[in-house]
Amino acid sequence: MLREHLLFTPGPVNVAGNVRNAIGKDDICHREVEFENLLKSIEAKLLKLFQLTDNSGYRAVVITGSGTAANEAILSSAVGDQHILILSNGEFGGRLHAISTIHNKNTHLLEFPWGEEIDVAAVGAYLKSHHIDVVAMVHHETSSGMLNSIETIGALTKANGAMFVVDCVSSAGAEIINLKKCDIAFCSSSSSKAIGSHAGLSFVIGKTQEFEKLKDLPAKTTYLNLATFYHFLKTRSQTPNTPAVPLFYALEQSLINILSEGGPKRFSNLRYKAQLLRDGMLRLGLRFLIDQKDMCSVLTTVHLPSHIDMTAFRRKLRAQTIIIYEGKGCFKDRVFQVGNIGELSLVDIQFFLDTLGGVLREFNVVIPKPVLALGTQNPIFKPVNVAAI
Ligand SMILES: Cc1ncc(COP(=O)(O)O)c(C=O)c1O
Repeated sequence: MLREHLLFTPGPVNVAGNVRNAIGKDDICHREVEFENLLKSIEAKLLKLFQLTDNSGYRAVVITGSGTAANEAILSSAVGDQHILILSNGEFGGRLHAISTIHNKNTHLLEFPWGEEIDVAAVGAYLKSHHIDVVAMVHHETSSGMLNSIETIGALTKANGAMFVVDCVSSAGAEIINLKKCDIAFCSSSSSKAIGSHAGLSFVIGKTQEFEKLKDLPAKTTYLNLATFYHFLKTRSQTPNTPAVPLFYALEQSLINILSEGGPKRFSNLRYKAQLLRDGMLRLGLRFLIDQKDMCSVLTTVHLPSHIDMTAFRRKLRAQTIIIYEGKGCFKDRVFQVGNIGELSLVDIQFFLDTLGGVLREFNVVIPKPVLALGTQNPIFKPVNVAAI
């Protein structure tokens, strides 16, 4: 299929043809057995994606709403009057804090500079000196591209007897997330990032025993009440309100695609694509915001040469079908972001690097010699074997 836009973003993504087709499936009623079977199928596949089985003590609810809906469902439903500590090292950690302050009067914040690691010692010290019942953080802090260590913070949280909640919106489907090992009570994600489907659905995967406890807490919202979602899932395999059924079909298909590719193979393919992009951009003389070892496998955050205007830069790439993200907050006008999720082939990656090189030259960036004929001389791209990935 000819695509007018190549989405080199952290999401939304170019969806697979069979995901696009899935939204046109039969019209069904969400109070009938067809929808119940669809939701059961999605739940089983979500659990499988997280290396969990049907009876592993975890459940997955699906919400009609973007990733923020899943985050808000957790933060408004699972805290009650307890004390919650939000760890933030970027925009999305900040958003968790903003949501939590609306719903939870006992919200604490430990803030670290954007693009820097969460200081584990500082978290440990805070947990020792304060009574904290819940710790919440972002796995992949999309604003910088940093993959935060949920293993370390999970262990620390457990050692201090608190419950652990993680925003996995931009890492699920791309990174191994071991809920048991990290002792995660609830995690959130969305359909439109590394899961590879259309935007509009999100989900919460959590421990069954924690879902069970939610009914004893006071409801703070109606639409996003996780206790209600769980009740409908458990008793009828339905959703409390009218769901966006076509998007459920699409999500099911994208999960089939991931699982048939195989989790480990998929993760290494994404890593490979990220590496091709990173190597190519380094050859163009660009520099990255954070160290490669700290990056997630879905996104690269790149310094824009200081003399280039961001809007003009993005416009030139857009004119050649390439869509990238621009930095936000303290990174605004300083960095751009390049994602490698969705239906992006090795040929698309080569096209991206060739086009980026051309645009940089238009801005008089002197490109180191070896990449002047990128795509013909760069050894990475000679044996492109699209079928192999
Ligand atoms: C880590 C993270 N959390 C939350 C969100 C919010 O998701 P949405 O825009 O789907 O509501 C995003 C979106 O990019 C994200 O990257």
